Amino acid sequence: MAVKKAVIPAAGLGTRVLPASKAMPKEMLPLVDKPAIQYIVEEAVAAGITDILIITNRGKEIIEDHFDHSIELEANLRAKGKDDIADQLGGLAHLANIYYLRQKETKGLGHAILQARSFVGNEPFAVLYGDDVVIGKNPATKELCEVYEKYQKGVAGIKPCKREEIGKYCSLGLEPIVDAGSFDGVFEVYDMVEKPTEDQIMSLYAILGRCVLPPEIFDILERAKPGVGGEIQLTDAMAELARTTGMVGFEFSGKRYDMGNKLGLMKAQVEVALKHPEIGEDFKEYLKKIAEHLK
Ligand code: UTP
Repeated sequence: MAVKKAVIPAAGLGTRVLPASKAMPKEMLPLVDKPAIQYIVEEAVAAGITDILIITNRGKEIIEDHFDHSIELEANLRAKGKDDIADQLGGLAHLANIYYLRQKETKGLGHAILQARSFVGNEPFAVLYGDDVVIGKNPATKELCEVYEKYQKGVAGIKPCKREEIGKYCSLGLEPIVDAGSFDGVFEVYDMVEKPTEDQIMSLYAILGRCVLPPEIFDILERAKPGVGGEIQLTDAMAELARTTGMVGFEFSGKRYDMGNKLGLMKAQVEVALKHPEIGEDFKEYLKKIAEHLK
């Protein structure tokens, strides 16, 4: 079955990027001129996703405004002959069928995903974490959906991490799937652990911001107990899925930027700005100049 639905959890409190995220959802923090969540929705659409559920929270209404018409602004731009920008803005209201649902209590990523149960129904669905922007030639979600369609198992979007950083993510137990002597980048995932301590590290591969899951994950999430940090962890539910029906992992090709912490946010800003068609060249010159004075 082709994957047509996606869930974007965006209900977190964003405590690592406070005070920026106090009144502004961290998912709306911009990379030059586009908010993070727009990159994420565009990635889903480029993967063939038609229906997207964004899990929000109190104070995140501006995400809905962003993916709607702004009648006055569009009319104003058109009156000034700026039809290109007006078209771009208007297009945001028609990217996909976008639905919103509030997670009433911030009980963790697994709990946020559980809220999507009736939206998803009995279909596989993609999960794109609302603060992880992936930029690359091929949309990461498209790559993962293709792996799902081939293997018919939940797919974790993975990347190798530095040993000193894996404790911030999760560690996967995995083995490359070698078929007739060739490896096409797909791993069998047999276990995983959230925020591993040194003795729990199974590999340096972690799930970074993307996965495609079968609907069976909801039964697991229904009975999930709070894990690390007292939160219902999606990783714990995926670990059970991996141990029972099995999961696979795929290293997506794009580069992932973590918009949920200050350094990640700045790295994303700089790299996206350097490639930006309008300001890229000028920004590069500016950076070179200030780099001359860096010690
Ligand atoms: P994070 O743990 O990175 O987000 O969750 P957070 O809780 O906002 O971060 P800090 O630690 O307070 O800075 C990964 C994704 O899951 C969402 C977040 O919005 C983010 O996109 N999330 C997390 C929810 O939707 N609900 C939750 O209860 C927790």
